[in-house]
Amino acid sequence: MALEQKVALVAGATGLVGQALTELLIQAPEYSEVIVLVRKPVERWQQHDRLRQVIVDYEHLEQQRDELRADDIYCCLGTTIRKAKTQENMYRIDVTYPLELARIAHEEGATQFLVVSAMGADSQSSVFYSRIKGELEQQLAQIGYESLSIVRPSLLLGKRREFRLGERTGAILARVLSPLFIGPMNKYKAISAEIVAEGMYRIACRKPQGTVVYLSNQLHIAARPVSR
Ligand SMILES: NC(=O)c1ccc[n+]([C@@H]2O[C@H](COP(=O)([O-])OP(=O)(O)OC[C@H]3O[C@@H](n4cnc5c(N)ncnc54)[C@H](OP(=O)(O)O)[C@@H]3O)[C@@H](O)[C@H]2O)c1
Repeated sequence: MALEQKVALVAGATGLVGQALTELLIQAPEYSEVIVLVRKPVERWQQHDRLRQVIVDYEHLEQQRDELRADDIYCCLGTTIRKAKTQENMYRIDVTYPLELARIAHEEGATQFLVVSAMGADSQSSVFYSRIKGELEQQLAQIGYESLSIVRPSLLLGKRREFRLGERTGAILARVLSPLFIGPMNKYKAISAEIVAEGMYRIACRKPQGTVVYLSNQLHIAARPVSR
């Protein structure tokens, strides 16, 4: 029987997780097309026949509604307070933009949404970052997707173009402390962006119904190929 192919859309496709995910999805037999929302075109993706780059302005997403038609939406958007400079800017990028994308894409027919949140996300938290991730999760759940998968990775590992002191220090600590992260502590262990991406893709293939949250240890399991 022929595989019914779908269209995937990736927001934040140029980021650490987003890039790993995009490279994976363009090889995936489940998708006939992968739309990536970018601020400027990525040269190495320009020649790919199953990938379409859409230059996006999240401040005016409504005007690009027609470009947001896809079955599965993967959201890897986000920033750091250092880059955003103010909490207000960070909130816009980490919460307002993903929510606006989720709302419009759902209206345009998407049934599945997968989002990278963060470990410790909690709308009641006194920590700004955890609080806004929690708020995002809560508001996404109200939109009405058939399948909403929230992934909450711990510290992300991977090669970045920019230097992030906190992450670099965290990665060194994570390596040193690695033997301690066993059993229930496994969810705190740093995780590579590739595993997060692989986990998201394999979760999307299963399309779990309702809202499901995945911690790092569960992403490791989700990322394993299903034995046939
Ligand atoms: N870093 C960690 O250890 C960690 C841990 C847990 C969870 N997370 C969360 O995981 C998610 C993905 O993280 P990541 O490290 O893969 O992200 P990243 O490398 O920082 O990439 C962020 C993506 O968002 C886009 N973006 C940022 N600001 C934007 C704006 N104003 N307009 C349009 N696009 C914008 C970037 O586009 P450009 O390339 O154009 O800038 C990029 O594609 C984030 O939500 C993050 O909070 C991170």
